[in-house]
Amino acid sequence: MNQNKDSIILGIESSCDDTSAAVLINGKIHSNVVANQEVHSSFGGVVPELASRAHQQNIVPVVDHALKKAKIEAKDLSAIAFTKGPGLLGSLLVGTSFAKSMSLGLNIPLIDVHHMKAHIHAHFIQTHNKEEKLVPKFPFICLTVSGGHTQIVLIEDFHDMTVIGETIDDAAGEAFDKAAKLLGFDYPGGPLVDKHAKNGDSSKFTFTYPKVKELNFSFSGLKTQFLYFLEKNKEKDKMFIENNLADICASYQDHIISYLFKNVKKAMDRTGCRDLAIAGGVAANSALRRQLKELGDQYNYNTFIPAFEYCTDNAAMIAMSGYFLYQKGIFANQHISPKARITF
Ligand code: KG4
Ligand code: ZN
Repeated sequence: MNQNKDSIILGIESSCDDTSAAVLINGKIHSNVVANQEVHSSFGGVVPELASRAHQQNIVPVVDHALKKAKIEAKDLSAIAFTKGPGLLGSLLVGTSFAKSMSLGLNIPLIDVHHMKAHIHAHFIQTHNKEEKLVPKFPFICLTVSGGHTQIVLIEDFHDMTVIGETIDDAAGEAFDKAAKLLGFDYPGGPLVDKHAKNGDSSKFTFTYPKVKELNFSFSGLKTQFLYFLEKNKEKDKMFIENNLADICASYQDHIISYLFKNVKKAMDRTGCRDLAIAGGVAANSALRRQLKELGDQYNYNTFIPAFEYCTDNAAMIAMSGYFLYQKGIFANQHISPKARITF
């Protein structure tokens, strides 16, 4: 067992199509290496089998790089934190097996991390050579928007989180990616919609909101609505997409953001929280980041946005989550297996 006074956590993330490793020393990030998988771009989505094979190829060099960048040797580590789920089973298996063997080989604790909680814990990441960053105060609301999830979460403590609203079908990231595919963009199309929307008029086209109970969302109808919108307009103008790309992206993106914010506002009213955060891959969206600040100014909320690199999948957030569990002595054993679906 490591006798070092410092707590040095290696985080490993492999839930979808990014292989990542990070080193956190005494709660501060010293390295965060992410290998994106280009192999899926022309398929319109992540191909699970290709993802697990790419993780197998990437994991050793990515972990090695993260350790070197942090100037740490494997023998210095205090614990290994890995993503247990939710995610793609084959992808999760690669990170889980690697973390288990490393923990066994080094005789150090193994910590299983919930991927969606980790997206929220990304707000607490401090970087070793940067100014201390302000963090949300409990209780706060976090809108977690990724490629697989859309949730409104009430966070009362690091380990006390309740989902108070969520999508009943597609995630917000899927709404971006599926529309992007219809516009002819490669996967993941969300960042490209964001890029083109920057030059567009968001009031040019309008879409309707589905009726969903309570604080929940539905995005699958929006994809169909968008498809019919494109088809109808292409009947009149074959070059409709090319001639209106920026306005289409801006209007569609704005519609998703205002839909998300409708329920976020309700959640803030209902819970009385004053601190509001966003997390997950879609939190990298420039308009969402800007409009969250505006929402905060309008209603006097303190708003929190993770650094860009901690929005999309990364191991820094896994190491951060792992650190909170490490401090409480909550460890996994060698019988643990990954889970494609897990609740909070
Ligand atoms: O959190 P994440 O990296 O992976 C999952 O856990 O799913 O989120 C990926 C999602 C994708 O749907 C991607 O298109 C979306 O985040 N995304 C964006 C932007 N950057 C990533 N969506 C809109 N605008 C962006 N700038
Ligand atoms: Zn994620």
